[in-house]
Formats: sequence, structure tokens, C-alpha cells
Amino acid sequence: MNKSIFILGGSMLQMPTILKAKDRGLYVYVLDYDPECDARDVADKFLLISTIDKEAVLEAAKEYKPDYIMTSTSDMPVRTASWVNEKLGRKGGISYEDSICATDKSMMRLRMKEKGVPVPDFYILESFEDFEALIKDLPDTLQKVFVLKPADNAASRGVKLVDANDLDADKAKELWDFTSQYSRGGRVLAEEYMEGPEVSVESVTVNGITHIITITDKKVTHVPYFVETGHTEPSRLSKDEQEDIEKVALAAIKAVGIINGPSHTEIKVTKTGAKLVEIAARLGGDFITSRLVPLSSGVNLNECELDAVLGNEPSWKRVITKGSAIRFIPAKEGRIDKIQGIDEAKAMPGVEEVVLYKKEGDIVPPLHSSSDRVGHVIATGKDADEAERNCEEALSRINLIIES
Ligand SMILES: Nc1ncnc2c1ncn2[C@@H]1O[C@H](COP(=O)(O)OP(=O)(O)OP(=O)(O)O)[C@@H](O)[C@H]1O
Ligand SMILES: [Mg+2]
Repeated sequence: MNKSIFILGGSMLQMPTILKAKDRGLYVYVLDYDPECDARDVADKFLLISTIDKEAVLEAAKEYKPDYIMTSTSDMPVRTASWVNEKLGRKGGISYEDSICATDKSMMRLRMKEKGVPVPDFYILESFEDFEALIKDLPDTLQKVFVLKPADNAASRGVKLVDANDLDADKAKELWDFTSQYSRGGRVLAEEYMEGPEVSVESVTVNGITHIITITDKKVTHVPYFVETGHTEPSRLSKDEQEDIEKVALAAIKAVGIINGPSHTEIKVTKTGAKLVEIAARLGGDFITSRLVPLSSGVNLNECELDAVLGNEPSWKRVITKGSAIRFIPAKEGRIDKIQGIDEAKAMPGVEEVVLYKKEGDIVPPLHSSSDRVGHVIATGKDADEAERNCEEALSRINLIIES
């Protein structure tokens, strides 16, 4: 009898893990609240259940008795998987209590501070009144600018840089309404703005021992919004900076309590050293895990993730050393009249793929979160610099004409 697995979430980003689980001969249940989700027809059995409805997932687990329960790239289902595993008396990759710290930025900041992991100065706000009180007497670290973000969302939704010198009562209310609308639990964080290059660290932990796979340099849009516009790996930061980054990532992974499974840690390298932006107890999104890591290192993180869940030793060691890069296609706001240069871009050296999420006639929204992006180019090279050049050369061939 084949072993079976619940995979929480059936979106396109979850697909590589779902397919790998099937390749391994597992009987795969996919759970999603969306009956039209991408993985519905790929699953051995599809269950129409929300991945954040803990009780419903537990009921289904009692009925179908899967051997394993996991998610892949989605944040909130990490909580569900660990809660259900605990209720069934199984050891998951992270405890339920720790999974809350991994998915709520306010709890995460508190845990990191308690464990001595470097984080920016932060203030947890429960209401607009809390925000008013904070800005009445701004702490030194927030004097010029600060970051406002919802405690429990993703894709940079609601994350904004605030100019502290331009904050009257109306502006404050407008900012609060903007950010708090994205907060599911209602909490918002005001944080010291960390200046410096940003990276992410991809890793896999097995029985409490963490293996770092790679460090990725990030390119983020200019303020006040923080949408990632590209990634390049391996990182070109200095050896010392990379050592500091690894130290902070390992400390954060330990502090948040990941025992088995992948993690994606975001770090800024400030004048006073590497500091944590956030950590996720799951695979990184944004094509880093699914495309950039395998292209630059030969490591398949979806396989590693499954091995960690199944209790096998993952193949986490780098087998090639190349560069890989992704750039998201820039576009002005408006209706797309014409898309030019796609075939030319695809034919450029090193280009792996050019993908558009929109077509002629579609509307390009203002770039406020990752889901507003219009497409991407992925390229490789002998090293990170060449991969980045190849990616940008290809990008320069693409032209989106927006109706004025
Ligand atoms: N305190 C800070 N100082 C400087 N930059 C920050 C700070 N907090 C967030 N950012 C910037 O905003 C981006 C998004 O913030 P954060 O990762 O906390 O939100 P998110 O919604 O989880 O985003 P994503 O899902 O895209 O990673 C970060 O990658 C970083 O560039
Ligand atoms: Mg983030």
C-alpha cells in the first residue's frame, strides 16, 4: 500500500512539490478552498477544504489517515500543518507555538529579541490610537523615516516607508487605514528602517541541523513601497558580510524552532551588521526555490523539502556553480496596448524563460505588491554578474506599450 500525504494548497507555486510527491509514489491529497486551483487535476484526490481551516483539515486527516501532512510555499498553512500534526500526536517540522512566531511578524520580532537575534527596533500597534501615541513622541530610531507593515500578510502587501517629517493627522489616518486593511489579526508593526543591501537565505534543516544552500541578492523597488523587482545568486557580497548573514540566518532558524524542513530568511546588511527582516518556515517563493536555486547550484529544494518531511537525508550539497537571475518586467500603469520583443528576448544568450502574466488589453495596476507584477525573465551565466547581465539584456528587448 502506497504511503499518502496531505499537501495544503494547490496553487501553481505548490505544483513542483505536488509533482515530486507523486514521482516518489506517494498518494497525494491536495487541499484547497479554490475548486479551480491549478493542482486539482494533478492530485490523486482533491479535497475542497481551506488550508487555514485547522479543524476541517484535522477532520479530513482523521478520515483519510495520511502518513504525512505538509505545505510547500504558503505561509499560513504552516500553522495548520503543525497544529494538525500535533493533534494527531505526530512530530512535524515545527511546533504549533513556533509556527505562530514564523507567520506573525509581531510574535517573530518578540521571539528574536528574546533570543538575541539582531532585529530593527520595533513597536507593535493594536489600534490607530496606539499609532497616534507612537507618532506623538517618536522614538529616536523612527525619527526620520520608519516602516509600517501588517503583522500577518505577505507579498509586501501593506508594507510602506513613512516619512516621519510629513505626518499630519490626515496622513497618519490614511497610512493606518492603508496598512491595517492588510492585517488579518489587526496588528501593525512600526519599525526602524534598515538601510543596506538585502538578501535571502535558502536552507533546509534536518533533525535540528541546518544546511544553507545559497544566499540570493535582492533588488527591491524604490520606496515608499517595497516590491521585489529581481533576484541574483549566488550573492556578490563580501566573504565577511556573507559569514555575518549566515550567522544571523542560523540564529533566526534556531530561535524560531525549525526542526525539520526548509526555511527562507530575509536579511538586510546594515552598517551595524546583518539584521533580520523576516523568516519563513517554508520554501521561498518568487521563483527563487523553484528556478534560481536549481539553476545556480543544482540543488532541488522541493526534493530536499520532501526528504525532510519523509525523514530521509536530503541532497542539499551544491553540485554545480553557476549564476542565475530573475528580473520582473517593469511596466507603467494603464492598459497594455502592445507587447513587443518577447521572441527576441527569449533568443538572447543565457535566457531560460520569459513569462508574461498579462496580455494585450489587460490593465497594469500601480506596483504596490508582488501580485501587481506583469511578467519575468530568468537567465543564467557562468557567474552571478553574467547571469544578471544576460537577464537585463533580455529585459531591455521587451517593450510594453501602455495606452495613454
Ligand atoms: N524594517 C525594515 N527596514 C528596511 N526595509 C524593510 C523593513 N521591513 C521591511 N522592509 C522591506 O520591505 C520588504 C517586505 O517586507 P516583509 O518581508 O516584512 O513583508 P512581506 O509582506 O512578508 O513581504 P514578502 O512576502 O514579499 O517577503 C522587505 O523585503 C524589505 O525590502
Ligand atoms: Mg518578506
